[in-house]
Amino acid sequence: MDAVADNRVVIFDTTLRDGEQAPGCSMTLNEKLRVAAALRDLNVDIIEAGFPAASPGDFESVQRIAATIDGPTVCGLARCNEKDIRRVWDAVKESDRPRIHVFVATSQIHREHKLQMAKDEIISTATESVALARSLCADIEFSPEDAARTEPEYLAEVVQAVIEAGATTVNIPDTVGYAVPGEFYELFRYLKEHVDGIDAIRLSAHCHDDLGLAVANSLAAVQAGARQVECTINGIGERAGNCSLEEVVMALKTRKEYFGLETGIRTQRLYPTSRIVTAVTGMHAQRNKAIVGENAFAHEAGIHQHGMLKNSATYEIMRPEDVGLSRSNLVLGKHSGRHAFRERVEQMGFQLDDVELNRCFEEFKELADRKKDMYDRDIEAIIMNVDVGKAGPWRIEELHITAGTGTVAAAALLMRHEDGREIRDAAEGDGPVAAAFRALEQATGVNLILKNFEVHGVTVGDDAQGEVTVTVEYNRQSYRGHAVSTDIVESAAFAYLEVINRVIRRQEATGEETESVALGTP
Ligand code: KIV
Ligand code: ZN
Repeated sequence: MDAVADNRVVIFDTTLRDGEQAPGCSMTLNEKLRVAAALRDLNVDIIEAGFPAASPGDFESVQRIAATIDGPTVCGLARCNEKDIRRVWDAVKESDRPRIHVFVATSQIHREHKLQMAKDEIISTATESVALARSLCADIEFSPEDAARTEPEYLAEVVQAVIEAGATTVNIPDTVGYAVPGEFYELFRYLKEHVDGIDAIRLSAHCHDDLGLAVANSLAAVQAGARQVECTINGIGERAGNCSLEEVVMALKTRKEYFGLETGIRTQRLYPTSRIVTAVTGMHAQRNKAIVGENAFAHEAGIHQHGMLKNSATYEIMRPEDVGLSRSNLVLGKHSGRHAFRERVEQMGFQLDDVELNRCFEEFKELADRKKDMYDRDIEAIIMNVDVGKAGPWRIEELHITAGTGTVAAAALLMRHEDGREIRDAAEGDGPVAAAFRALEQATGVNLILKNFEVHGVTVGDDAQGEVTVTVEYNRQSYRGHAVSTDIVESAAFAYLEVINRVIRRQEATGEETESVALGTP
């Protein structure tokens, strides 16, 4: 365990493991690498990169993150068995700071109905696993799953045994989001008082949000002595999600005089990181979400606006710029140059190399010709989408739509393949989006089942960009595509094409057959 000051709360991010387990939040390898880089820039202490035994894809992503992301500890999750533990070690050992995280359930309901194991059997499985993991790696975390519903006396026995076996962090999960703050505080105090050697290890809290109490419970745990909080960006995670990283971090920062604790998080990176996770998962935080929601710093009521103009502290307990949100939202126009664009991108917390910056700047100029006012969200959408629909092998060269009341919608396309082929195709549909999707399918020969179709306005105004996320199924695999344009039919077509291109790339790599299925109508 790295030595850190007593008042430092270590931030363990599990967006890529517990967050990714949430329905609709699965990420590709490149998306995971992008999120991992954002977490590094945010300065989280630990990245839980995945569950390597779950699938070869999970193994590969943990391994790539461990090998390429410098700075944070990189951790992988294992059940209490030799195969899982060795798989984690193989995946994380390239990291400068590897960690193995082993878990087994301890509550009565899990012991009897899930594991069918007696209390002492669970203790011996846990200690053998921790000892094996410790023989491979110096940094070992142990989690008694469903700890919050485990009898405290038995939990203390388990915790004592795994510490003796070599665990360096012991995490107390509220797996089903059942705890309430006072009780969770007492549980940590109880462990502190009844487990020998507990002060030599780091105690951690891992809370789920089923009762909306994950952040409150995590804060109660740190008040009782926990010095690691497990959390996810935007609070994504199974069911109601996990403790939200941005909320727990900003609570500790904003109320520092109360908690007397700090984290190492670069809070100005919170908003950009939240946006990256939204873009790759397609899961939007609700408008009134604390810290990173659209309305988190918006003041509508006249009396509030009046107070804000006199002194922003009247109604604002945090400054938007402290979480990476700019106060002056209207930023650049079509006469802005590359230098101003670069400066704005950097102020927003994005780090682009010269090639990326040039590509984004070209997109920006193109968009500025079509759109009067350019907002931060427009720039952000450009950065997140610069390659969408352009990665190939197919590109849309032209898209013509006819639609109207009483007429059948039709789409006509000109597509170009990277090998030089050109295809013109046309199709009709129940609406312009369905017609565009059908034309894309005909032109490329890839038929998808549309499972979900979402449109969000990126900014305000009648020239605002529309962000479309499509979730589709192909060969029983789920894919998500995502694109932004001032024309929502065009963004829908780009999002759909992104998925088609991914399917084709996958077929090329694996030799998978094209599946022919009916188009789902959006
Ligand atoms: O919620 C939970 O119990 C977990 C553990 C594996 C830590 O995610
Ligand atoms: Zn969990």
